[in-house]
Amino acid sequence: MSLRLGDAAPNFTVSTTEGTIDFHQWLGNSWGVLFSHPADYTPVCTTELGAVARIKAEFEKRNVKVLAVSVDSLDSHHGWIKDINETQSCSMNFPIIADEKREVANAYGMIHPNADTTATVRSVFVIGPDKKIKLTLTYPASTGRNFLEILRVIDSLQLTSQHKLATPADWEQGNDCIIAPAVSDADAERLFPQGVRKVKSYLRYTPQPKA
Ligand code: BEZ
Repeated sequence: MSLRLGDAAPNFTVSTTEGTIDFHQWLGNSWGVLFSHPADYTPVCTTELGAVARIKAEFEKRNVKVLAVSVDSLDSHHGWIKDINETQSCSMNFPIIADEKREVANAYGMIHPNADTTATVRSVFVIGPDKKIKLTLTYPASTGRNFLEILRVIDSLQLTSQHKLATPADWEQGNDCIIAPAVSDADAERLFPQGVRKVKSYLRYTPQPKA
């Protein structure tokens, strides 16, 4: 059975390029992004790890720790990191798990046998401070992910965990938000004093609350 939203994120203890990590302990009170790569020394993965390293400060600003998984060895990862730094204008600044026994890959359902029997697909799991799965995303090996989209989703997840709001299509920081359907009109006026714009009884907007 694959992991679903709201499920507990399985814990694991693994070797990484930054030492042994107990996942839950390492996360502490942070949010987490756990993302898999089909293999070391592959072109798309190389660009993805570089992309995340370049915007790591954006994850930190949001209290998010990032952790990559690849089923190759630590030696292989360390050699590959030299190539990533050389080619992607970055300095690798987050750990990569050496998941040679595929313990993490199997626990998180990152191997999709009808796509590839041994390599992981490109999975992303966003995990909340309560260690529950908040987002899952699965891309094929041939398509690199957009990590700005992952930051955008994290912004929405963090906002909607604090307020009775949802975010509309293509929402970005600072845009108007949607008032959750379960909130009555009277409560909406009280909860969102910055204004309620009612387009339909079920479609009500309010400016994004200040952080
Ligand atoms: C890559 O990361 O470049 C890749 C991996 C597997 C298949 C295709 C591309």
